[in-house]
Amino acid sequence: MLKPSANRFVKVLRLPTDQSIRFGMAKRAVLIVSRLFRFGVFAIALAACHQAGSERPPAALARSPSAAVLTALGRQLFFDSTLSASGRMSCATCHDPSRAWAQSNGLPAQLGGIAGNSAGIRAVPTLTYAQDTPPFTEHYFENDGDDSEDLGPTGGRMWDGRAASAREQAAFPLLSAFEMANVSRASVLAKLRTSPAADAFRAAFGARVLDDSVVAWSGLLSALEVFQQSPDDFYPYSSKYDAYLRGQATLSERELRGLALFNDPAKGNCASCHPSAIISGALPQFTDRGLIALGVPRNTLISANDDSTYVDLGLCGPLRTDLSDHPEYCGLFKTPTLRNVATRQVFFHNGVFTTLEQVLRFYGQRDVDPEQFYSAGILGVTMSYDDLPAAYHANVNIEPPFDRRPGQPPAFSDAEADDIIAFLRTLNDGYHRDSTSQH
Ligand code: HEC
Ligand code: HEC
Repeated sequence: MLKPSANRFVKVLRLPTDQSIRFGMAKRAVLIVSRLFRFGVFAIALAACHQAGSERPPAALARSPSAAVLTALGRQLFFDSTLSASGRMSCATCHDPSRAWAQSNGLPAQLGGIAGNSAGIRAVPTLTYAQDTPPFTEHYFENDGDDSEDLGPTGGRMWDGRAASAREQAAFPLLSAFEMANVSRASVLAKLRTSPAADAFRAAFGARVLDDSVVAWSGLLSALEVFQQSPDDFYPYSSKYDAYLRGQATLSERELRGLALFNDPAKGNCASCHPSAIISGALPQFTDRGLIALGVPRNTLISANDDSTYVDLGLCGPLRTDLSDHPEYCGLFKTPTLRNVATRQVFFHNGVFTTLEQVLRFYGQRDVDPEQFYSAGILGVTMSYDDLPAAYHANVNIEPPFDRRPGQPPAFSDAEADDIIAFLRTLNDGYHRDSTSQH
């Protein structure tokens, strides 16, 4: 392994010839500016709220906190378990920083709720590399170049894209009956008033902020959102693969073979949905944020699935309710980033697979040898796509590597799958911890 000293690494990073880094940083700068712009909007919104309520003293809303203050406050709130109904669950209970801000256990769905025993229905996604997720749209067009192809449903937060932003998203776990389980915003704010973060909250937004439920709620969501946009925590670009793209590390033969198979349209074809190359100068996110149906097998370990009539159809429901009259969207879930994927213990929206080997076998052999993945029906016949009613089977993606029929050779061999996994392991952050200080 190439392990340059911190000093050498700093020098290499500063070389002005590396265009990709400079473009990457330009993109980062745009993000930060847009973030600051949103603070501006937030500050104006606060001021407007303030003017609307004439009986409130001006001091309550006197402050519009800096990005650094909001980030520090958001971090504290993210780890604050007093904001949950059980008093034992914070955002970090499910989004563990040592697991790329995803779950640290092998359960397909986490337990939450007032007594900590209500089971969720989906696996916890990483919170890394979501910083430029566009809001959900049914019709996505790439805005650079003259490509006017409709790429279909894209973007949004959650596996079904139902939250427009991290700000909107934060309200879901705080109020979800099987997560932090507060019955209302008022109940969250009552807890916030007595939480260890209360003083920092007042210091950030003004001494009377917690007396105003609208402003306090808005401040809570903003702090959580801004924290989740902190580059060092959530998008450090410190993987071995990033070092390789910057010309500061070499991949092993095996990792290089894996990368080639990952990109090869006739083999893994993974990059068609999980882009791996520098695009317009920006380092790759390993997701195009598209929503796609892969026909992932039903997971009988998810307790909601004990009811045979219950199906998680993703984009068309039941958690998401605005597109339930779109049968063509049933079974579609958001393509996750593959950065840090080797830190996960469960894979796909329902956590049905527990190793990357299983995931790769599924990609290479789904329709070649369906018995491996799907349950047998009443007549003993394997039911392909057994977590999707037959009416929606036409939605399932059949492009490479899913372009095979039963009995045909797999899209790639087990040895090739191992090479792809070796490559995926280069996507874990922390290869050069010190590289984060350069952004
Ligand atoms: C009980 C476990 C649990 C807790 C607690 C929890 N989350 Fe999550 N989080 C999840 C699960 C599961 C999902 C995916 C849900 C879905 O797709 O329906 C998720 C999704 C998200 C997403 C969307 C990621 C994306 O880009 O799609 C964000 C952001 C997030 N959580 C932030 C938070 C914040 C902030 C908190 C605390 C206020 C929090 N979570 C608390 C389990 C949890
Ligand atoms: C047609 C688009 C598409 C292609 C091609 C594709 N993926 Fe995916 N990938 C997805 C979607 C969509 C999901 C989430 C599906 C779900 O949970 O229902 C996913 C999920 C994953 C996951 C689980 C990640 C997590 O956080 O749980 C891994 C690992 C993965 N893909 C690796 C690969 C590899 C390796 C290849 C190539 C062999 C590949 N993908 C090809 C769209 C694609």
